[in-house]
Amino acid sequence: TSKRLTAPDITARKGKDPIVSLTSYHAHTAAIADKYVDFLLVGDSLGMVMHGFESTLPVPLELMILHGRAVMRGAKHALVVVDMPFGSYEESPQQAFRNAALVMKETQCGAIKLEGGKRMAETIRFLSERGIPVMAHIGLTPQSINILGGFKTQGRTQAQWAIIEEDAQAVTEAGAFAVVLEAIAEPLAAKITRTIPIPTIGIGASPACDGQILVMEDMLGLSPRVPKFVKEFGKVGAAIEGAIRMYAEDVRSRAFPAPENTYEMKD
Ligand code: KIV
Ligand code: NA
Repeated sequence: TSKRLTAPDITARKGKDPIVSLTSYHAHTAAIADKYVDFLLVGDSLGMVMHGFESTLPVPLELMILHGRAVMRGAKHALVVVDMPFGSYEESPQQAFRNAALVMKETQCGAIKLEGGKRMAETIRFLSERGIPVMAHIGLTPQSINILGGFKTQGRTQAQWAIIEEDAQAVTEAGAFAVVLEAIAEPLAAKITRTIPIPTIGIGASPACDGQILVMEDMLGLSPRVPKFVKEFGKVGAAIEGAIRMYAEDVRSRAFPAPENTYEMKD
């Protein structure tokens, strides 16, 4: 069937086959990924991988909406989740609802994602009780790099465990339909996955999670630098460079356009 998956469909996958997901920022690659994934995340990492920002912090809500619409046009089966960018939800549950509702109206996506555990629990509850499914995101939260001191793996000492476990518990109790665990040590990811009743979606969080996500550009080999947790399943950057080099050579040697690329007169 071609019916689109919903947030409750994803929640129901807890403890079953691994949930497969990717980020997506572009209509045509969304259509390709749609054949293979359960959900697509329009993540704010688009600021880095598509727009060349050094972090996700400069990303405006408008950009999330534009890319969210493109992905919704391309993907017909996967649940589409759109990230709330830095500054669009942290102030209050009301601010979060206003902006998340705008994202849902403008893109018609099925859920939003926001960063933060315990501190965002009240907001997650406020949104979920008012019709907006929320995916939480804990561990390494890239919108907080200026506090964390960089893109650093979390939960590698026992002392850090309690905080992340409390975050997982808090977002679950607040009504999140799933939670992203980013860059945390394997035993902690395994423990959280065993403990909470909602699916854990890992990125750099081991195979113990209920599902996996990667940034599409990273796994395609299209990002200049990637963290250790990324496997490059493709060499798309190299393929693009090869094609562009050949094009430039063919234009300079006048091998392109060839007769088959050229219009002739009808009379
Ligand atoms: O923006 C993003 O790509 C994300 C994933 C890393 C989960 O939030
Ligand atoms: Na993100």
